[in-house]
Amino acid sequence: MTDFLASVYPWTKSLHVMSVLAWMAGLFYLPRLYVYHAERATTGGELDQVFQVMEHKLLRLIMNPSMIATWVFGLALVFTPGIVNWGSVWPWTKAAAVLGMTWFHHWLGYRRKEFMRGENTRTGRSYRIMNEVPTLLMVVIVLSVIVKF
Ligand code: HEM
Repeated sequence: MTDFLASVYPWTKSLHVMSVLAWMAGLFYLPRLYVYHAERATTGGELDQVFQVMEHKLLRLIMNPSMIATWVFGLALVFTPGIVNWGSVWPWTKAAAVLGMTWFHHWLGYRRKEFMRGENTRTGRSYRIMNEVPTLLMVVIVLSVIVKF
């Protein structure tokens, strides 16, 4: 199995980066939709319905599959021989940031359900602030995998 993972390493890494791009696009865009949803739409109105469809499709069709693919290919890289040295710092900072990213994904999912029930209590400003979370985590992840401190 480890021989097989070693032979497909460039493919696994390519698929990992492609999934990461799709997942991150959603993680950056969905909180922006929530900002305008919270600020511009009235519960039950036409705009509310349009935002709900956009948010639902983004989460279900793009973000959930790409998060799963990122995890599958990322874990395949972890089990590829010679890639991760757990004695270094970078695998731990990356793991912590990736868990944070996964938490943020689920946090967005719960917020979508609140919008769906007409129970959102958060302001556009609070969604603007939360929008910075994936940016900060992305900085930690990229420095971890590229600088490899
Ligand atoms: C979800 C769980 C994840 C796991 C288990 C994981 C694991 C890994 C591993 C083991 C590598 C190989 C490093 C190497 O080849 O030297 C890697 C590469 C990479 N990861 Fe992840 N990763 C995950 C999520 C993410 C996320 C969320 C991002 C971006 C925000 C990301 C960005 C990258 C990039 C850009 C590379 C390529 C670095 C290079 O050029 O070597 N990963 N990942």
